[in-house]
Amino acid sequence: MDGSKIPKTNGAYKFSVAPMLKCTDSHFRVLMRQICQKGLLYTEMIVANALIRTKNKNKLLDFKSIEHPISLQIGGDDPKLLAKAAKLGEEYGYDEINLNIGCPSAKVKSGNFGACLMAKPDHVARCIESMVEATSIPITIKHRVGIDNFDSDKLLIEFVDKIAEAGAKRFAIHARKAWLNGLNPKENRTIPPLQHERVINLKRQRPELIIELNGGLMTPNDCLKALDKCDGAMVGRAAYSHPMRWRKIDEIVFQEDSREISPSIVIRKMIPYTEKHLSNNGKIWDICRHLVHLVEEVPGAKIWRNELCSKAQNKKADIQVMEKAALHLEDAGL
Ligand SMILES: Cc1cc2nc3c(=O)[nH]c(=O)nc-3n(C[C@H](O)[C@H](O)[C@H](O)COP(=O)(O)O)c2cc1C
Repeated sequence: MDGSKIPKTNGAYKFSVAPMLKCTDSHFRVLMRQICQKGLLYTEMIVANALIRTKNKNKLLDFKSIEHPISLQIGGDDPKLLAKAAKLGEEYGYDEINLNIGCPSAKVKSGNFGACLMAKPDHVARCIESMVEATSIPITIKHRVGIDNFDSDKLLIEFVDKIAEAGAKRFAIHARKAWLNGLNPKENRTIPPLQHERVINLKRQRPELIIELNGGLMTPNDCLKALDKCDGAMVGRAAYSHPMRWRKIDEIVFQEDSREISPSIVIRKMIPYTEKHLSNNGKIWDICRHLVHLVEEVPGAKIWRNELCSKAQNKKADIQVMEKAALHLEDAGL
C-alpha cells in the first residue's frame, strides 16, 4: 500500500479518465499522471465478491501515491459485500469509491450487477446507503442513461433522485443506453447513439447534483464544451488510445502552468518506475503495452510502435528497451 498523502477529489472530476477493464491498471494510471496531474483517475472495475474472497488483496488494490486523486470502482449487488469492499478501499487510501451500474457484459449481467441494476433503483439505493454507512470517503456512481425498456428521462431522473437520496456524491453518466440482450459490451459502446442532451437536461433539472458527462468526448475542446453544461468530463477510449492528446489538459481545465510534456519525456519519467517493477519480478511488457500509444500521427510512428512491441515482448527484454525507445524519439525531436 502506498497511500500516504491524500489530496481531495474536490474538483478533480472536472476531467477524469474512465474506468476501463484491461486498460486502466496501475501502470497506465502512473503513465497518465505524467501527462495529467490534476484529473481524477478511475481503476478498472473490481468485483466486490472477488475482492473480499481473495487472499492477495494487494494485487487488486495496490496503487502508487502519484495516482491520487483516484477512484476505486467496484461492481456487485450485495449491499453487505459492497460495504466491506468499500471499507477495504478506504483503508487502502483510495479517495473515493465508485459503484459500477453501467457494465452491460453478459458475465456481469449473470452476476446480477452492472447495468442491469438500473432497473432496480431501490436496490441500488440500498447498496449505496450501505457503502456510505461503512466509509467516510465519497461514494459515487457510474451508470448509463438507460437500459432496454428502462429508458426515459422520467425513469432516469427517478433513478438519480433515489441514488442521491441514498448518499451518492457524484454521478458519472455514460450518455448511451445499453441493450442487455443482443449487443455485446463493445457494441454497447458504439451502436446505441450518444445522447449528451439527456445528461445535460438532467443537470439542468438537478443543478445541485454533481454530474460527469461521459461518452464520445474525443478532444480537450469536447471536454470544455461538456464543462459548459455539466460538472465533469470523463474520457475513456480517447485517453487510453491517444494519451498525448491530453498533454495540455491541466492548463486548459485546471488553469495550471504549462509544462513541457513529450513522448520521450514521459518514457524517461517511466524508466525508474519500470526498473522497480522489474526488480519485483514484473515484466517490461506490463508497462510497454501502454506506452505504445504515446506515439502516433508522425512519420515513423508505426515502425517505432512495432519495434517497441516486438522488443518488449521478448522474454529477455530489460530496461534498455525503454532507453532505446526514448532515444529514438529524442533523435526525432519528439
Ligand atoms: C476496454 C474498455 C473497458 C471498460 N471497462 C469499464 C469498467 O471496468 N467499468 C466501467 O464503468 N466502464 C468501463 N468501460 C466503459 C468506459 O468507462 C466508458 O464509459 C465508455 O468507454 C464510454 O466513454 P468513451 O466514449 O470516452 O470511451 C470500458 C470501456 C472500454 C473501452
